[in-house]
Amino acid sequence: MGVEIRVEGLTKSFGRQVIWQDVSLTIPAGEISVLLGPSGTGKSVFLKSLVGLLKPDRGHIWIGDRDLPRLPEAKLYETRKLFGVLFQDGALFGSMNLFDNIAFPLREHTKKRESEIKNIVLEKMEMVGLLGAEHKLPGEISGGMKKRAGLARALVLDPEILLVDEPDSGLDPVRTAFLNQVFIDLNAQIGATFLIVTHDINTARTLPDNIGLLYQRHLAMFGPREMLLTSEEPVVRQFLNASKVGPIGMSEEKDESELEAEAKLGHDPGKLPPIPPQQMPSNGMLRAGMHAPGAWCAAHGVVPPPGSFVDDLGRNWVEEWPRYVASMTPVGASGGPAAPGGPGGRFPGSPPPGGQGTGAGY
Ligand SMILES: Nc1ncnc2c1ncn2[C@@H]1O[C@H](COP(=O)(O)OP(=O)(O)O)[C@@H](O)[C@H]1O
Ligand SMILES: [Mg+2]
Repeated sequence: MGVEIRVEGLTKSFGRQVIWQDVSLTIPAGEISVLLGPSGTGKSVFLKSLVGLLKPDRGHIWIGDRDLPRLPEAKLYETRKLFGVLFQDGALFGSMNLFDNIAFPLREHTKKRESEIKNIVLEKMEMVGLLGAEHKLPGEISGGMKKRAGLARALVLDPEILLVDEPDSGLDPVRTAFLNQVFIDLNAQIGATFLIVTHDINTARTLPDNIGLLYQRHLAMFGPREMLLTSEEPVVRQFLNASKVGPIGMSEEKDESELEAEAKLGHDPGKLPPIPPQQMPSNGMLRAGMHAPGAWCAAHGVVPPPGSFVDDLGRNWVEEWPRYVASMTPVGASGGPAAPGGPGGRFPGSPPPGGQGTGAGY
C-alpha cells in the first residue's frame, strides 16, 4: 500500500516571483514525510502542485509511469483519486453536519448505496476519534475536531497518498500531540504515503520518517529523519534546533552585518540535542514504513548525540527495538492487524513513546 512520488527539477513561479526552483526529491511509499519551512516559502504551493491544482513551470512529478503535469485532463482526474488532501482550513461545509461533510466525496464520486456510505463514514470517523459527533455542525466543534473531520473526509476514498497542510496551525501543543498520534496510528493502519507540511519543529523532530526543508526558494535538504537531525548544514541545523544562531533571521534571511557579527563571536551553533525517539503507534500495529531507531546513523558512521533514542521512561529504543518488533503482529499477517492492546498487540510493560491514544474529544 502507498505509492512513491518522484519529483524532478520542479519549478514554480507566479509572474516574475519565483516561489521555488529545481526541487527534486523522492517521497518513499508508505512512509511519513514532513516538509518544513518558514512561512511564505511555498509549502502550500508545493502541495497544490502535487495534486495538480497548480501547474509547475518546469519539472516532473512521477507517480509510477505517469508524469502529473503532462497528463491529459481525464487521466489527471483519475490520478487525483490516489490523493486524499487535508487543507489548512479544513474546508468543511458550514451548513452540513459532520456525517454529510465526510460522506460528500462518496456521494459525489461513487455510486455507492447510502447503507454502504454510512459504514464507510462511520469507519473513518472511528479512525480519527470522532465517533458520536456525526450530527454536529462545524460551527459547534473545536478546531482540533474540525481537523479530524477534514481528515476523515480525506480518507473516505481510501487514498494511496495523504497530503496534509499545517495540521497543527491554530492548535495548542497538547492537541497537536494527539493529532500527531492520529497520523501515526492511521499510517500504521492504512499504509498510505503521507506528506505533512508544518512549521512546528517538535512535530518535525518526532513524527516523520523523512524531513524536507524548503528555504530561500530551494529545497535545502530532504532525507531520513536521523540524517536531518544530525546535519551540519547551517540552515538545517538552525531550523531543526530552533536556534537563533545561523543564517535565518527574523525577516527570514539575515543580512551581511548580522552574519558578520555572529562570525566575530565565533559562530558556534552549540551542541546538538539528543535525537528523540520517533512517535510510535498506540493502536498495537507495527508501521511498515518505520525504520529501526539509530539505523541510519549506524549505516552512515554518524554518532548520534548522547541521550538519543531514550524515551521519558529511560528506555533506549535502539536496544528495545528488536524486542518491540518481535512482540508485534505485522499488518496483513494471519488474521489481519493485531487487535489494539490484544495479545501480541502491545509491547510488554508500558505503552510505546507518545502512546496517548487518539484523544477522542479533542
Ligand atoms: N495563486 C497564487 N497567485 C500568486 N501568488 C501566490 C498564489 N499562491 C501563493 N502565492 C504566493 O506564493 C508564496 C508562497 O505561498 P505559500 O505556499 O502559501 O507559503 P507557505 O505555505 O509556505 O506559507 C507567497 O508569496 C504567496 O503570496
Ligand atoms: Mg501554507
